[in-house]
Amino acid sequence: MPTVIVEGRDAFEAPAGKKLVLAIEDAGIDILHRCGGNAACTTCRVEILAGTVPEISEAEIAALEEPALIEKYRLSCQIHVAGDMSVRLWKTASEQGIEPGDRPED
Ligand code: FES
Repeated sequence: MPTVIVEGRDAFEAPAGKKLVLAIEDAGIDILHRCGGNAACTTCRVEILAGTVPEISEAEIAALEEPALIEKYRLSCQIHVAGDMSVRLWKTASEQGIEPGDRPED
């Protein structure tokens, strides 16, 4: 099973094919997903520090909008665990003092 490392947290294993935002949340990390995984809010954004992920999708580009953001971030609600990877979260729900949002669909 692939190992996912979220910077500053313990590494955890997640099944290949699992949506990254759900893998992170199910590991007990309070990642934001305010739009419920619909590529609309960008609060689930992560930086990919290591590991292989597919090319960025049109939905992600449309949501992130700005070239600097498109270059830096991926939407964890739009990508799936495919192998070992390391990521940095943008923000967490507890840091922001808000609810994470509806759980994205599997
Ligand atoms: S863009 Fe809103 S949860 Fe991913």
